[in-house]
Amino acid sequence: MTGERIEIARPDDWHLHLRDGAMLHTIVGFSAAVFGRAIVMPNLVPPVRVPEEAEAYRARIRAALPDGHPFEPLMTAYMTDSADPADIRAGFENGIFHAVKLYPAGATTNSEMGVTRMAAIRPVLAEMEKIGMPLLVHGEVADPEVDVFDREAVYIERVLEPMRRGFPGLRVVLEHVTTVDAVEYVRAAESGLAATITPHHLMINRNAIFRGGLRPHMYCLPVAKRERHRLALRAVAVSGDSRFFLGTDSAPHPRRDKEADCGCAGIFNAPNALQCVAQVFDEERALDRLEGFVSRAGAEFYGMAPNSDRIVLEKGVGSEAPRERVGVADHAIRVFDPGTPISWRIASGLR
Ligand code: DOR
Ligand code: ZN
Repeated sequence: MTGERIEIARPDDWHLHLRDGAMLHTIVGFSAAVFGRAIVMPNLVPPVRVPEEAEAYRARIRAALPDGHPFEPLMTAYMTDSADPADIRAGFENGIFHAVKLYPAGATTNSEMGVTRMAAIRPVLAEMEKIGMPLLVHGEVADPEVDVFDREAVYIERVLEPMRRGFPGLRVVLEHVTTVDAVEYVRAAESGLAATITPHHLMINRNAIFRGGLRPHMYCLPVAKRERHRLALRAVAVSGDSRFFLGTDSAPHPRRDKEADCGCAGIFNAPNALQCVAQVFDEERALDRLEGFVSRAGAEFYGMAPNSDRIVLEKGVGSEAPRERVGVADHAIRVFDPGTPISWRIASGLR
């Protein structure tokens, strides 16, 4: 009951899954209430590949919100082996595409149409390098021979570093970093490389997936790693290094698809993402750097001004327990529960 408060510019979410159809309608309001803008992932079925598909998807997102709601979905293109540099360029120049997302084929949910050979996408990468368009990378090898917990580190060595040497001017975001290897790789880069970090990878390590039994709602990709990796993520998130910023990777799946024989990867944190990050920064005695991580660094990378309106977070007073689920029946979705207290709540600025 300290009543501690912090006021910051409205945050943005630089990595978000909004889905489509009924699921979109169920969840979009949680992100739109808090975040000014979000980089929207294109891994629908079928994926968002060309500007017309992104425009139509953006319209469906807007239609799922009340008329005139100011939330701004920033669309991305899904990279395939046959992506056309002219389409990607046109989408970027028209302001519909803000980035291209690279999923290695087979690495994660709806990545089947992703990239199978890096050589195939060289013309697109060359074009993106020329026009300054960011490439957002799911940095895991899909090679089944590689241990699941090593896939990020191996990707950096086998794929990311050679790609960046081939396209030194390409602007790259290594998405949802989970390892000390990724943190060190980004920190060592001279330019053109940034990383997003999720709330859940700041709060849980891989033990959470096996606590007392198998916990499908703690399973996402890249999977949570050992404690030393989590500590490295926390240290860099609160360090004030503006190459690291918030991307929630909120990725809802209906409970029945997670609590299944072959459960889907993805953690739905939109209802408490900002509160979780505030909790982490508070625990690290770094609340003065929260605004940089959630509201400024990402905007700076994407060449946008921070949001001009503000949001107030408050500690202690009537703090919310994490919401257990949203939606009903077939659409019930579990909300991320870190298993430790979240003592922050949003006191004003929700919309
Ligand atoms: O856990 C994940 N879920 N990781 C991804 O890369 C994709 C996401 C999803 O779309 O469900
Ligand atoms: Zn994602």
